[in-house]
Amino acid sequence: MIQRRKFLTLSSITALHVLTGCGGGSNSNHRGSGNGNGGMGGGQGGNTSTNNPASSTTSLPIPPLLIPRDAGGVKHYDLTIQASQHTFFDGVATNTYGINGSYLGPTLLVENGSRISLNYRNTLGEPVSMHAHGMHAPANMDGSAHQTIAASASWSAQYTVKQKANTSWYHPHTMDNTAPQVYKGLAGLMIVEDTQSRSLNLPKRYGEDDIPLVLQDRVFNNGQINYAPSRMSIMRGYTGDTFIVNGAINPTFNAEAKEIRFRLLNGSNSSVYTLAFSDRRSFKQIASDSAFLEAPVTLTSVRLSPGERAEIVVDFSNNIGQSVVLKELNNNKSFLTINVNQDPSTITSVPSKLTTFEKFNPSSAVRTRNFELGGHMGALTINGKSMDKARIDEVVPLNDIEIWNVSNTMGVNHNFHIHATHFRLLSRNGNTSAVSANERGLKDVVYIPPHESVSFIVKMIDYTDTTVPYMYHCHFLEHEDNGMMGQFTVV
Ligand code: C2O
Ligand code: CU
Ligand code: CU
Repeated sequence: MIQRRKFLTLSSITALHVLTGCGGGSNSNHRGSGNGNGGMGGGQGGNTSTNNPASSTTSLPIPPLLIPRDAGGVKHYDLTIQASQHTFFDGVATNTYGINGSYLGPTLLVENGSRISLNYRNTLGEPVSMHAHGMHAPANMDGSAHQTIAASASWSAQYTVKQKANTSWYHPHTMDNTAPQVYKGLAGLMIVEDTQSRSLNLPKRYGEDDIPLVLQDRVFNNGQINYAPSRMSIMRGYTGDTFIVNGAINPTFNAEAKEIRFRLLNGSNSSVYTLAFSDRRSFKQIASDSAFLEAPVTLTSVRLSPGERAEIVVDFSNNIGQSVVLKELNNNKSFLTINVNQDPSTITSVPSKLTTFEKFNPSSAVRTRNFELGGHMGALTINGKSMDKARIDEVVPLNDIEIWNVSNTMGVNHNFHIHATHFRLLSRNGNTSAVSANERGLKDVVYIPPHESVSFIVKMIDYTDTTVPYMYHCHFLEHEDNGMMGQFTVV
């Protein structure tokens, strides 16, 4: 009822503008744009949790590292997708989905060059598909809507890891049903290591000084997860007011007084997070979605839209006995309280050079493609078309360097994600200097505030398939499920 009332206060004119992307005055309450702090990702359009019991402070759950089973030179990761119950609140068993557990899934540690097999067993009683986001996989192993795992069926994604060290993640990509499945708990991290990542003097003791943080927000009613987007919250994104990290509400982490690396994933359905520490301390971002940055970038906050990752290193060497809170600034919420209360057991020091990567010159691009994120007659579209599994939207020749321009024609937040490979951002709103230092690395998701545009340079490599497509889409899951997705083959 509370949600209902909230949406009825929006005038139908505003609603129409949002639906059709007419823009104009309809987005006057979004916060900034461009380098701003997350547009409408904040609480204004948010949905309200009601009637929940207390949640006692717990310590930060660390998703277990799944040790693969070696068979015939292939590393097998066995993953059971299941309905379960999880404790978010005292004395309540919350109905959830999980992978080998009650909420989220284990962290898969994979090595560049090794052959892996992600073996999914679907026990949900409904179809699911499982995509490894950030992994460079052949199209038929990508886990998109074309590799559906029927209820009670199993499916394996088997391929050789061919990419730089990064933080990837796996999550459902079920046609029209991704958002509810992620919301109930289906997601997990994949960490890719390579010889370079192993050689750098970075924090790399998983769970000790290398800490995964899956950041999400949820609506809970009576202790249960409430996924009930109205038409308006489909357009604006279904944002919640209860913030969780690794499946816990404002937990605490006991840190060593040294550099701590956090692998941040915006695992929310549709919220833009601006993350910072309570004392506004600076930290170093060392990696973006698809690889280390070439050099660390010093920041006091980092903005992540859904699906984006950032690895950051925070130095707590001089903070023994103190507490620092990881905050989300758009909503003024606390994600995690860090108590610095242990002596360091190793010393690390972020190197000034982390990696190098090839930077294609825009003049070497052989073609340009344009994508318009918009809305039409209540549907969400890319170039005027809603997702159709039977339609291939783009055919991309292998090894061609291309420029893709993506514009958000609407008064709401969007972003853009491509499967298959990474890209490098060239400009925001046509302005090359508007790309911030921490967005100049290899990425696979880019945030596009209302009425803004981005350009990136991309090259498809290694894998072709004339029939099975990859996806590109907005990673706001309500938008993805409601048509803002397209398909491309690499030939
Ligand atoms: Cu993270 Cu197409 O997905
Ligand atoms: Cu993906
Ligand atoms: Cu969107």
